[in-house]
Amino acid sequence: MTQQKLIEDIKALKKEHNALILAHYYQEDAIQDIADYCGDSLFLAQMGQKSEAPVIVLAGVVFMGESVKILSPTKTVLVPDFNAGCSLVSGTPYEDFVKWRQKYPEHIAVTYINSSAAVKSVSDAICTSSNAEKIINSIPRDRGILFGPDKNLGRFLERKTGREMIEWPGQCEVHVLFSAKKLFTMKEENPGALVLAHPECEDAVLAYADFIGSTSGILNEVKTNKSTDTFIVATETGIFYQLQKARPEAKLIQAPFEGGCQCNDCPYMKLNSLEKIHKCLSGLSNEVQVDPNLIEKARLPLQRMMDITDGKPVIWPTWFEG
Ligand code: 13P
Ligand code: SF4
Repeated sequence: MTQQKLIEDIKALKKEHNALILAHYYQEDAIQDIADYCGDSLFLAQMGQKSEAPVIVLAGVVFMGESVKILSPTKTVLVPDFNAGCSLVSGTPYEDFVKWRQKYPEHIAVTYINSSAAVKSVSDAICTSSNAEKIINSIPRDRGILFGPDKNLGRFLERKTGREMIEWPGQCEVHVLFSAKKLFTMKEENPGALVLAHPECEDAVLAYADFIGSTSGILNEVKTNKSTDTFIVATETGIFYQLQKARPEAKLIQAPFEGGCQCNDCPYMKLNSLEKIHKCLSGLSNEVQVDPNLIEKARLPLQRMMDITDGKPVIWPTWFEG
């Protein structure tokens, strides 16, 4: 089937099932083009919750599909490939996370959305990289904070908010590959270039960044910061499509990697394809299933995140009962 025919068929299937396609910025260009909405993790969760569509295809990784399902259990949520995991999810086994959580029952556990539904179910609030600072700042100052599973995001938040946190030692296998040493040289070779980095990068890389933010934050910086036309970008390659569309005249440079590898693709995000989207839509297959008990428990911290993001007051639990 030609790409054009595939796209036409996907559009027809979307109409037939009244489906919505949500795509993360790390998806290949053609998937971003066919999506109804493209965005960062927070935006996709918000759109999934707000949408009236009974069927949602989440072109991203599985935890993103699970988050939409948890927030909207009556919707049919499809993910094109169930192997689209995340190193932060696989690096945080539920049993180990609960034991860690139980050691600090009086602490508030803030968990990055890049986590399993089970880990979310024993957390107090979820966050994404675009609202994490707001979530941490909303916690009363006399409460201790546990943060997981991304230790780099956690340390960045400690610096931003001045709050001490106990961090789970997880990391993103893609973002930790950027080289601080090579970035320093690249910056010297491109005077005037601004370095934009995702907070999943290591501290040494973030130290050279002029702007640190989520994928949508990085996109917004390229759109609005007219002080330069050259940007060095330390995040996954998929974002370059929207960055270049936003500023066609800008010079966008991929931040350098350790060992000279070109490993800027997330192997999980890039498992998706137009063919797989077509396949799951035509048979309504690859439906995300989350145990109803888990949905019940995981919805509370996810909803707390949504409420804090919208500026609504929330009540924090005083003690972890699990
Ligand atoms: P964003 O929420 O910034 O899009 O990040 C998601 C992610 O997985 C980054 O690796
Ligand atoms: Fe997970 Fe990293 Fe891929 Fe994002 S880029 S989905 S954090 S492995």
